[in-house]
Amino acid sequence: MNHRIVVLISGGGSNLQAILDAMAEGRLPAEVSLVVSNRSDAGGLDRARTAGVPTAVVSHHDYPDRESFDQALIETIDPAKPHTVALAGFMRILTPAFVAHYRGRLLNIHPSLLPRHRGLHTHSRALEEGDEEHGCSVHFVTEELDGGPLVAQAPVPVHANDTEASLSKRVGEREHQLYPLVLRWRAEGRLLLTENGAELDGEPLGPGGVQMTADSL
Ligand code: GAR
Repeated sequence: MNHRIVVLISGGGSNLQAILDAMAEGRLPAEVSLVVSNRSDAGGLDRARTAGVPTAVVSHHDYPDRESFDQALIETIDPAKPHTVALAGFMRILTPAFVAHYRGRLLNIHPSLLPRHRGLHTHSRALEEGDEEHGCSVHFVTEELDGGPLVAQAPVPVHANDTEASLSKRVGEREHQLYPLVLRWRAEGRLLLTENGAELDGEPLGPGGVQMTADSL
């Protein structure tokens, strides 16, 4: 049976594109059964349409509170019967009810080496704080913002002459390798969330998850 992934986006969708490309190239044995955006102008919606993937828009402006917005999201996502729900630049904080509904199936990619730099503006914060290393993380989503069990991280060096743009580009390249790889583990049935945290091939992952190097990606 095909592993069905629903991807949630808010913006340009470069991570979505990386997922679609990995599928087209046979590196990810799965299908994207739906792309959902909370913004009707998200560029990623065009990427989905070009790939022939169904899309839906659930605008948070149409709902009075997070609870009703998240309930509408659930009602949009569930008919697509996802084995995995992948947040890919989805810029809304999700309610505990949403997170509980998809527990063990909900992944997020975040542009920092968590637990460093939770939240927004991760690249400028890495520069301001003089980090020598930066990167991206994929984690299972739990109620704690950017705090769920880590699955994998990919570091990049920070160079002395880096700008937010140059650092963001370097991290983005790693994101586009890392997310399809982690989703492949899900599609192959190798990656689970258990009471011991994230497990790959039946082995609990350490606190930082799998540490990927440029060579291993
Ligand atoms: C990515 O860098 C992703 O890690 C980040 O948003 C960007 C979306 O880009 N996500 C977060 O900051 C979540 N807190 P994309 O739309 O081009 O994939």
